[in-house]
Amino acid sequence: MMEVLLNKLYEQNELTQEDIVYFLEHLTPEYQKRLFDLAVETRKKFYNKSVFMRGLIEFSNYCKQDCLYCGLRRSNPHVERYRLSESDILDCAEEGYNLGYRSFVLQSGEDFRFTEELMISIVTSIKSRFPDAAITLSIGERSEAFYRALYDAGTDRYLLRHETASRSLYESLHPGMSFDHRISCLHVLKDIGYQVGAGFMVGLPGQTHNHLAEDLLFLKELHPEMIGIGPFIPHSETPLKEAVGGTVQDTLVMIAMARLLVPDALMPATTAMGTLDPTGREKALRAGANVVMPNLSPPKVREKYALYENKICTGDEASHCRTCLEMRIIASGYEIELSRGDHCRVISPK
Ligand code: 5AD
Ligand code: FES
Repeated sequence: MMEVLLNKLYEQNELTQEDIVYFLEHLTPEYQKRLFDLAVETRKKFYNKSVFMRGLIEFSNYCKQDCLYCGLRRSNPHVERYRLSESDILDCAEEGYNLGYRSFVLQSGEDFRFTEELMISIVTSIKSRFPDAAITLSIGERSEAFYRALYDAGTDRYLLRHETASRSLYESLHPGMSFDHRISCLHVLKDIGYQVGAGFMVGLPGQTHNHLAEDLLFLKELHPEMIGIGPFIPHSETPLKEAVGGTVQDTLVMIAMARLLVPDALMPATTAMGTLDPTGREKALRAGANVVMPNLSPPKVREKYALYENKICTGDEASHCRTCLEMRIIASGYEIELSRGDHCRVISPK
């Protein structure tokens, strides 16, 4: 049976919910190795050996949401909150540009001080100074009008992880938030024309194989351009401090399966993987991931952007991250790609 399922994954990029659960229950180390190898083969069909670099700028850690897992939740009084100014953000982008990056991700908590007007101004400034760079926003749920205005201002991509495709699990982790609204944001972003990123955490409390199968099938159906999958890491100042959290191994299996079910996706080897295991990101690349996101935030604020604890790269200069990641990519047998790194279906970027 496992042979049949592996074959179906590789040849047809398809499995049913029952098949996925069966596969996860019967996965031996040998099948796991074959799964990873097939994921790597598949990624090569679309992106060869390239690993895309995206400079990450964490510009505000204020958040109006209260997600149970997140260290930046509004109920955590121990976070020293910060906001970068527009000119700080531009300086980060410039530093990244000088290091060769042509793709920037601007990420923050859900901070409504960054109004539509201010965000338009930031995106317009970066685009006018660096017209050959792609901009990705990762700033949470906003109105359709906001998403349209930012797209018209030149934003290329938007990351909004669905976090979990199970309505009941979603609702238990996100007080005051609506599962339907989150999913509808993803559809709106897609309809507007953004390259969209979705994704989920592995090892959430109460998460079963059935839930994970739902996550994978949700991704297959949405067919986002980007997929971020990382282990949940409990944070000691959140209600989930006693939770067990996700493992590198389980996350690798999800990365490989997502690669096979959505073969053309751009998938990061996440910082959370590097945090749990010093070679976690390399392992992710060898399980089908093909993006890395070096930190470009100013060193003085990096420690304050703690979604979870012991996050790596918090003390490093931008240039240090670049060299470190390049070594890791090359040592894993891949090639560094500094271009915008559009999805392979995008023929002529905006
Ligand atoms: N562990 C791992 N990932 C987390 N995120 C938030 N909190 C944690 C945590 N404790 C992830 C969420 C969010 C992304 C920016 O970081 O999936 O979408
Ligand atoms: Fe929701 Fe930070 S409080 S991701």
